[in-house]
Amino acid sequence: MVGIDKINFYTPNTYIELEELATHRGVDPAKFTIGIGQSKMSVPPISQDTVSMAANAAYPLLTKNDLNNIDLIVVGTETGVDESKSVASFIHNLLGIHPFAKSVDLKQACYGATAGLMMAVDFVKLHPDKKALVIGSDISRYGLNSSGEVTQGAGAVAMIISSSPSILEIEEVSVSMTKSIFDFWRPNYSKTAIVDGKFSNEAYVSFFSTLWQEYKNRTTRSFEDFSAFCFHLPYTKMGKKALMPLLDAESPSNKDLLLEHYQLSTTYSRDIGNIYTGSLYLSLMSLLESTTSSLKENQRIGFFSYGSGAVAEIFSGKLVPNFKESLLTKQHDTLLNDRISLSIDSYTDMFNDELAIDSEGNHLFKQDKTDNGVFFFKGVENHQ
Ligand code: CAA
Repeated sequence: MVGIDKINFYTPNTYIELEELATHRGVDPAKFTIGIGQSKMSVPPISQDTVSMAANAAYPLLTKNDLNNIDLIVVGTETGVDESKSVASFIHNLLGIHPFAKSVDLKQACYGATAGLMMAVDFVKLHPDKKALVIGSDISRYGLNSSGEVTQGAGAVAMIISSSPSILEIEEVSVSMTKSIFDFWRPNYSKTAIVDGKFSNEAYVSFFSTLWQEYKNRTTRSFEDFSAFCFHLPYTKMGKKALMPLLDAESPSNKDLLLEHYQLSTTYSRDIGNIYTGSLYLSLMSLLESTTSSLKENQRIGFFSYGSGAVAEIFSGKLVPNFKESLLTKQHDTLLNDRISLSIDSYTDMFNDELAIDSEGNHLFKQDKTDNGVFFFKGVENHQ
């Protein structure tokens, strides 16, 4: 049995209320809170980047035993800090993992962390005495006043994969799918993503429906074999747009339960926004850490991972006995509730805050007083 032994997330300490953003943009707030399904959006200060967020998510998980036995570090990200050097190599150093580990990033939009999870599961199956650290870390940026603005966010998820998982066993069967399209992308010269919004929604829905048919054909499973389904959530209404038509068509006896669990899986994303690669695993934590969820050991959870461009996968996991004891529910509650609410003007300033690197390749700054991350980005020295 191989799967998720520990899991944590980090999001920056500052956010905006989306009702306030709507008022500023002259939009009906209900469009954001009901139509899109988002309440708050994490806003990263310049001192929180993909590396620091990844380290902040991972370090609370690591014991001395982990540091000595993690032989593989995989980071899924589409907002890395260097075109060549991996985020994983920074993480290896920051966390003090033993020297004889391999560290690599995987990129395919929001699908990267799932590719990392699958790679880690295979690795641990081959080397059951070893562990793997899988991270998804991203800052989602579409631009001020853009239609995607309300679906931005920032954060990281970290998971330790082992052969004695305390939370979720990852099952053998999964089905993936690739189709080269331009629904959402970010050319190397652009700091913000480019998106064909409507097409991206359609692609997401169509990938889920096609993959679900293929998954059913290959496994003979139906919705009734699942107690919950977690989705990649660019915004909390998206997964439901994909799930609902299939539930309506198939009318499984557990339809209400699946919808109830879907709702519980969206709580964290609703208050954080899109964190790209980590989003699916944020849904899992939101579901498992909910005080009202009735999920029990051995129950099966389905997962839909979607990365624009596009690659998707449906896979499943089974809950391990006493999984609740291994969750960091209290810490997550504190992290989210202690955040600082920004005015729209401060958000605009933070969004426009850019690294102004001089000709020698230097730019250092002080950690913003609103940034409480244990790890933070302090700037660039000599292009490093
Ligand atoms: N009250 C309540 N609801 C309202 C409303 C009001 N006053 N006004 C509008 N709405 C509803 C609309 O009816 C619509 O609901 P449905 O989708 O259920 O019909 C919803 O609010 C959104 O309205 P619009 O479609 O008019 O919104 P928009 O044109 O501003 O764009 C968006 C929405 C396409 C999601 C845009 O925010 C965007 O491009 N986001 C980024 C791309 C994205 O997240 N794509 C998702 C799939 S791709 C993916 O998953 C990968 C990834 O992470 C990027």
